[in-house]
Amino acid sequence: MIAQCPTELVHDDCFLALRSIAPHFAVNLKLEGFSVTGSIKVKAGAHMIQALEAAGTLRPGSRIIESSSGNLGLALSMICAAKGYAFTCVSDPNISPLTESLIKAYGAELIIVNKRDVNGGYLETRIELIKSMIKLDSRLVWINQYENIENVRAHRLTTATSILKHFPNPDFIFVGAGTTGTLGGVSSELRERAPNARIIAVDSVGSVTFGGLAGKRYIPGLGTSTPPPIRRHSSFDKMLMIPEVETIVMCRRLVRQGILLGGSTGTVLAGVGRYADLIHAGACVVAISPDLGDRYADTIYNDEWVNTRFPNLLRESVPEMAN
Ligand SMILES: Cc1ncc(COP(=O)(O)O)c(C=O)c1O
Repeated sequence: MIAQCPTELVHDDCFLALRSIAPHFAVNLKLEGFSVTGSIKVKAGAHMIQALEAAGTLRPGSRIIESSSGNLGLALSMICAAKGYAFTCVSDPNISPLTESLIKAYGAELIIVNKRDVNGGYLETRIELIKSMIKLDSRLVWINQYENIENVRAHRLTTATSILKHFPNPDFIFVGAGTTGTLGGVSSELRERAPNARIIAVDSVGSVTFGGLAGKRYIPGLGTSTPPPIRRHSSFDKMLMIPEVETIVMCRRLVRQGILLGGSTGTVLAGVGRYADLIHAGACVVAISPDLGDRYADTIYNDEWVNTRFPNLLRESVPEMAN
C-alpha cells in the first residue's frame, strides 16, 4: 500500500478470529485500531468532511468544530491538519490523556467542559457550548456527528461492505452504539444484503441512547447522555446493556492472552459472552472492535484508576488480573 496522503491510511480488512470468548464458535473481531489515528472514527470523519466539501460548505480558512469523547476529535484533528482547516474539539474529562495530547499535537484547539448534564453525562453540555459558539461566529462549521446522516453512510460504504466481503452470510453481528453511526450503517446495509444476519446492538449501562436509565459512565466510546437523532437509522434484533465492570474484566482477561483492546471492544465482547448460549455451534459471528487498548493504559489497564472507580473489583472478582 502506498498512500498519497495520511487520510488514506485506513485498514478496513483486518479481522482476528477469537476463540476464547465461547467454546463453540469463533468471534471474528473486526479490528479498526490499525487505521491512522487508531480508531474506526477516521472513516466517519473523512466521509463527513468530504460531504461538506462536496456541498461547498467548507472553504479555505474554515474552522470546523465538533463534540467528541476522543476518537472522532483525534481523527478530525489529523484530517484538518492534512487538509489545512482549523479545528476546535469540544470534549469532557473522560477523554484519555494521550488523546488529549495528540489532538493538541495536530494543532487543534481542545475545550474540555466540566459541568455534567441532567443525565449525569457531558454530551448536552458539549452541544450547548457549540451552539452558543456558532451563534457568535458564523465561520464555524459544525460536523454534528449525532445528527449527520453521513456518519451512517460512511459505515454502509466501508465497515459493512468490508464485513460482507469477508463474511457474505454472517449469522450474528455485534455492534456497539455510541453516536450509532456504526450501528446505523452496518445494520442498514446488512438488512438489505444479508437479511438472515441477526444484529445485536451493545450499549453501556447508564446510556440513554435507546431509552435506558441515565447513570454515571467512565469509559468513552459507547453510550450517550442525550439520545442521538441518527439512532432512527439503526435496526437490531436484540439490545444488550453491559455494565462497565464487565468491560474492564473482559479487557483485562484478553490482554493476558496478548490482545490489547479498547474499552468499547471489551463491552461488545462482554455482550457476546452473555449472549453465547443463544448462538449455535460453528456460527459465523462478527464483532466490531473500534480501537485498540494503548490509549487506555492509564485507565482500564491501570489498577489505581480501576480501584478508585470500582472498589474491590480487581481483588474480589478477578484477583489474578490485578497487576
Ligand atoms: C472507542 C469507540 N468505540 C465505539 C464508538 C461508537 O461508534 P459510533 O459513534 O459509530 O456509534 C466510538 C465513537 O466515538 C468510539 O470512539
